[in-house]
Amino acid sequence: MLGARCLLRALRSCSSAPCPRHTPSAKLSVRDALGAQNTSGERVKVQGWIRSVRSQKEVLFLHINDGSSLESLQVVADSSFDSKELAFGSSVEVQGQLVKSPSKRQNVELKAEKIEVVGNCDAKAFPFKYKERHPLEYLRQYPHLRCRTNVLGSILRVRSEATAAIHSFFKPSSKVKVPEENFFNVPAFLTVSGQLHLEVMSGAFTQVFTFGPTFRAENSQSRRHLAEFYMVEAEISFVESLQDLMQVMERLFKTATMLVLSNCPEDVELCHRFIAPGQKDRLEHMLKNNFLIISYTEAVEILKQASQNFTFTPEWGVDLHTEHEKFLVKHCGNIPVFVVNYPLALKPFYMRDNEDGPQHTVAAVDLLVPGVGELFGGSLREERYHFLEQRLARSGLTEAYQWYLDLRRFGSVPHGGFGMGFERYLQCILGIDNIKDVIPFPRFTHSCLL
Ligand code: 4AD
Ligand code: MG
Repeated sequence: MLGARCLLRALRSCSSAPCPRHTPSAKLSVRDALGAQNTSGERVKVQGWIRSVRSQKEVLFLHINDGSSLESLQVVADSSFDSKELAFGSSVEVQGQLVKSPSKRQNVELKAEKIEVVGNCDAKAFPFKYKERHPLEYLRQYPHLRCRTNVLGSILRVRSEATAAIHSFFKPSSKVKVPEENFFNVPAFLTVSGQLHLEVMSGAFTQVFTFGPTFRAENSQSRRHLAEFYMVEAEISFVESLQDLMQVMERLFKTATMLVLSNCPEDVELCHRFIAPGQKDRLEHMLKNNFLIISYTEAVEILKQASQNFTFTPEWGVDLHTEHEKFLVKHCGNIPVFVVNYPLALKPFYMRDNEDGPQHTVAAVDLLVPGVGELFGGSLREERYHFLEQRLARSGLTEAYQWYLDLRRFGSVPHGGFGMGFERYLQCILGIDNIKDVIPFPRFTHSCLL
């Protein structure tokens, strides 16, 4: 919307032809320039980085990208502009006329009248080479530069679009907390989850969410764990069953994904075509089917009967491992599957006791998705004072959690919530194998490059 308005303003400012030379050219993003409908030689200014240079006898072609779209803007210049400084990776400012392109490859092009090199790029030292498609593992070595490549550009635009889609799914009533140690005169820690604060808020607002960085001292180098990741968390008051929560999770996944697909189709397509062939169909399959629901007990039975040999033998009372999650998703026809009602002994004190037996469970839910495994974790919360008091006492946490018990003393309501790992979500929709490629600056055990 903003882009379109900006473009209108830009085009209007040049509409009373002829435009005097000294009139400052309207600045346009590459995306707005590419989308211009009425190109009758308006004078504009575009800034960005050179993605390609092609020098012919009488003309020079440049492609300029500023991160606003996957597609670059073609600049056509007289060969007199040719210079060594106009190299792959250099930053430039180009002024000229936006005209209809004679080529079928693009609608518009910029006929350069002035090209200014803002910053040179030493092509020999620059780690990325013109026309080369570098593997994601290679790009990972350059967290300070990789966002200039097509693939990271696409992933990060999708990330930004998905952030907006998630915010638009929820009503804006979020709360994020990232305390710093010693700043508060008491020891403070980086948060592993915003859940407990959301529970405070859910005592006044019936639907709350937060979306921010969370931290785990996870000693894992796996392709789905980070020490710092983003989590979308929601807490809903007056829910009585896991069914209510699962509906919101499924709607969040599907609504956000549909929005991303319709708002940045080229970026998604780049990932689906070049990084994860087949992912488009796999994602469609997830979107068009109702997610499945099985209990933890059923899941263990399925695993026990599997012909596959697991590294960790499946057993009731033991947590599911990645290999088990993967098997279960496949077993369910590669449709996301909710696993509900886990053993009480495996889960934290706040999860609601199902009061069942002899296998004692709590109302917990994980959503497992193809390619990634666990994407969401959530539960109904123990809203009954005496149940919670006993669980806290057993964990030796009573003193520290008096405030949490208070929430159950003063107008307690049945409530529940969940958290979705945002990077795992991006992995799941784009088919990106390694979590380190869907976050600008991945931090994990023994690695904090930037
Ligand atoms: O299952 P988790 O640990 O749930 C909670 O933290 C709850 N307190 C959330 C809530 O109910 N409000 O984490 C939620 C999700 C996981 O399902 C996973 O997708 C992601 O966060 N996650 C990680 N993602 C990347 N790296 C890690 N180390 C992650 N740990 C969890
Ligand atoms: Mg979990």
